[in-house]
Amino acid sequence: MKVTVVGAGAVGATCADNIARKELASELVLLDIKDGVAEGKAQDMMQTAALLGFDTKITGSTSDYSKTAGSDVVVITSGLPRKPGMTREELIGVNAGIVKGVAENILKHSPDTIIIVVSNPMDTMTYLALKSTGLQKHKIIGMGGALDSARFRYQLSQHLGASPADLNALVIGGHGDTTMIPLIRHATWNSAPVSDFLSADQQKQIVADTMVGGATLTKLLGTSAWYAPGAAGAAMVEAIVRDEKKLFSCCVSLEGEYGQNDICLGVPVILGKNGWEKILELKLNAEEKELFKKSADAVRSMNDVLSALPA
Ligand SMILES: NC(=O)c1ccc[n+]([C@@H]2O[C@H](COP(=O)([O-])OP(=O)(O)OC[C@H]3O[C@@H](n4cnc5c(N)ncnc54)[C@H](O)[C@@H]3O)[C@@H](O)[C@H]2O)c1
Repeated sequence: MKVTVVGAGAVGATCADNIARKELASELVLLDIKDGVAEGKAQDMMQTAALLGFDTKITGSTSDYSKTAGSDVVVITSGLPRKPGMTREELIGVNAGIVKGVAENILKHSPDTIIIVVSNPMDTMTYLALKSTGLQKHKIIGMGGALDSARFRYQLSQHLGASPADLNALVIGGHGDTTMIPLIRHATWNSAPVSDFLSADQQKQIVADTMVGGATLTKLLGTSAWYAPGAAGAAMVEAIVRDEKKLFSCCVSLEGEYGQNDICLGVPVILGKNGWEKILELKLNAEEKELFKKSADAVRSMNDVLSALPA
């Protein structure tokens, strides 16, 4: 297996580090536009191999896409992160140009690859990657729900005094502070509904804290978070390269599912060697359906901005 991570910044490097430690690929390429950064981080990570005991061969490249040739999976993390007070949506102008260019370059050398889009605003960047490359829909997957669901499980664990690993909880919809939908009614603690253990006020608080999970960290760190985003990207790579058929909330192209068309949005999918292999249609109640529709409307108006950007 060969995996490429584009963008050797905070999220990209953390994602690569996770991929190497778990030996998800025999070859791992880190690519960045900044002279020497990807090469430097690749070498630094390679120097952990003797200490951590992994065999993955990591190489770095400054914008030389020929080094990425034959990649099975590519994770795109290149682009600006948000600063305190910014929304993910404010990044669209700069990041659209970056993501489009990167996706095109990647496909020149790895036409059959599976692409995981991380750059924000992620739902719109995933849609852009799908439309601009014409790659088969199952091979373009946005990472947002995997992270937001992990943050949701963290919030639940804090209130329940439970292990996050014992909690099942999904966030669907857009990957934005106001567009994500933490499905608390569906969340369970080892199969028991969490609502059996939490008051209505606690549930509301958990949902609210999950939705601003990223913004809370951006305020503390001065830039957006990287440990959980990097780990979430790597977990998706793992499900694909190991053909795990694991369920993640991912941003994928909808063609009628959840009542939506011509949009990429977060829904539960099965990840395996073919990319996203199946969408699970959850039985949403009227309120959840309405939230999903509102989320889709907001993401669609963000997608509309793409047509106003220079080609
Ligand atoms: N989807 C999610 O859940 C999620 C979570 C966290 C961050 N993000 C997003 O991921 C992106 C990266 O965040 P970060 O914190 O790693 O930022 P960062 O600034 O640390 O790293 C970004 C890297 O991209 C590189 N880059 C820029 N243009 C490039 C190009 N054309 N080709 C190759 N590399 C290029 C930069 O040189 C930099 O090293 C941001 O858009 C951020 O908003 C998404």
